[in-house]
Amino acid sequence: MKNIILTGFMGTGKSSVGRRLARELNREFIDTDDLIEKEVGLKIPLIFDRYGEASFRAVEKKVIKEVVLKGNRVIATGGGAIIDEENFVALKESGIIVCLTSSVDTILLRIGTGKERPLLNQPDRKDAIEKILEYRKPFYAKADLCVDTTNKTVNEVAAEIKTKIIQILWAQ
Ligand code: S3P
Repeated sequence: MKNIILTGFMGTGKSSVGRRLARELNREFIDTDDLIEKEVGLKIPLIFDRYGEASFRAVEKKVIKEVVLKGNRVIATGGGAIIDEENFVALKESGIIVCLTSSVDTILLRIGTGKERPLLNQPDRKDAIEKILEYRKPFYAKADLCVDTTNKTVNEVAAEIKTKIIQILWAQ
């Protein structure tokens, strides 16, 4: 059974929607960021601080290689995971990739001023979001389907994904 993989920029709702979707579909939920934190024994900001982004990405790749070995799960990935071609191919082979999108203002609002996202710890956070988003757009566009989460509840987004996935599976 295929996995359902959630990708998309930080703050688009991957973890909360993924958890909800997994419950609805009676599947196991996996969050690759949680697995990375467990593997290293540190929270993500500390991994970036102490070892740098490249080390974080190396652990992310290892974790993705492991999670795709099993099917029938809902997997929320960190927003940068599918930018790496090897990660993209591994995830794509294991299931359906769903990209969540949101307006920049919604992302800003959801992320707030918290320090949990090291890539956004910059003086002009909105500008940082816009720049990274612009670079990543073509990578996110490779997903099998995209769902806009702006102004929608977690339940609404999960229901929308469920309907669309059923359509994709029927068409195959
Ligand atoms: C990242 C997103 C984060 C986390 C790390 C890097 C990214 O996950 O993996 O801070 O590169 O977009 P979320 O998308 O769950 O916030």
